[in-house]
Amino acid sequence: MKLIKYYIIVFLMVPASLIFAQSENSFVGAETCGMCHKSEKQGQQLSIWQKSAHAKAYATLKTAEADKIAKEKGFKTAAVETAECLVCHASGYNVDAKLLGKKFKVEDGVQCETCHGAGSAYKDMKIMKDEKLAVKNGLKVYEKVEELCVTCHNDKSPTFKKADFAELWKKIKHETPEKK
Ligand code: HEC
Ligand code: HEC
Ligand code: HEC
Ligand code: HEC
Repeated sequence: MKLIKYYIIVFLMVPASLIFAQSENSFVGAETCGMCHKSEKQGQQLSIWQKSAHAKAYATLKTAEADKIAKEKGFKTAAVETAECLVCHASGYNVDAKLLGKKFKVEDGVQCETCHGAGSAYKDMKIMKDEKLAVKNGLKVYEKVEELCVTCHNDKSPTFKKADFAELWKKIKHETPEKK
């Protein structure tokens, strides 16, 4: 009887733990994504991102200008220590350290995994080559680019400048060459 109960409990726990594991993917860092996304053939995503404002979004919070904005907003902490600023300027600052891979750097600001989802479960070649499988393993792709951008480029940003998303996208797009 005891054994049966045990099996029932285990049976009930399996699906829950699977769902849990999905949401617990860890961040591998832009450098890891860049291993396969830097060549000309792949589309040079790594260097395009490195040159973009997004790669500097965390550094921006360490400036005197940022601290001034945080103070004016009524925050008592430095901008770089304020969750209400980090929410759009970084990834990984608010997750368990267990979920941060060795190569992950919060200093990388708005990085690959900020937009595409934590990559530990989809970064392997076999999975990456199959878009459906990658998405099942946590990769985020977007039908309309704008639906992603507006999550940060909105009037909750203290320095918000209304912009045309097609123009913004031109500045950061990083497509694979066949699709250009
Ligand atoms: C082991 C090599 C490898 C690594 C590491 C890797 N990728 Fe990929 N990725 C690929 C390949 C191969 C493709 C599919 C072929 C293509 O479209 O270039 C791909 C496709 C993609 C796509 C396009 C999916 C689609 O079909 O629309 C995105 C987005 C992407 N990767 C993001 C990432 C991110 C973010 C990371 C880091 C967390 C990462 N990749 C790590 C090899 C890799
Ligand atoms: C600010 C958000 C953002 C960041 C940062 C970002 N991407 Fe993307 N990425 C997108 C969007 C939006 C698309 C286009 C829609 C899609 O394919 O999902 C895209 C498309 C891609 C594609 C598919 C290209 C194609 O032609 O199908 C790859 C591969 C990719 N990103 C890899 C990366 C890698 C690697 C990094 C980091 C070096 C990165 N991205 C950083 C938002 C981002
Ligand atoms: C996670 C939040 C976040 C998302 C999502 C995001 N951005 Fe940004 N973006 C920022 C931050 C923060 C800055 C300011 C970085 C800095 O200057 O330090 C920025 C700056 C930029 C800039 C440079 C400033 C400018 O006006 O020219 C461009 C271009 C840009 N983003 C394009 C995009 C596009 C296109 C998308 C959607 C595909 C997008 N961003 C999605 C947070 C985000
Ligand atoms: C809703 C998302 C969001 C939040 C919250 C946010 N930012 Fe930003 N931040 C952005 C974006 C997007 C940009 C790019 C320029 C723009 O359109 O505002 C940016 C740009 C900046 C810049 C560069 C200004 C410029 O004109 O180049 C500074 C400094 C800055 N933010 C500081 C802060 C501080 C300090 C906080 C917290 C009090 C904060 N941000 C909260 C999204 C955000």
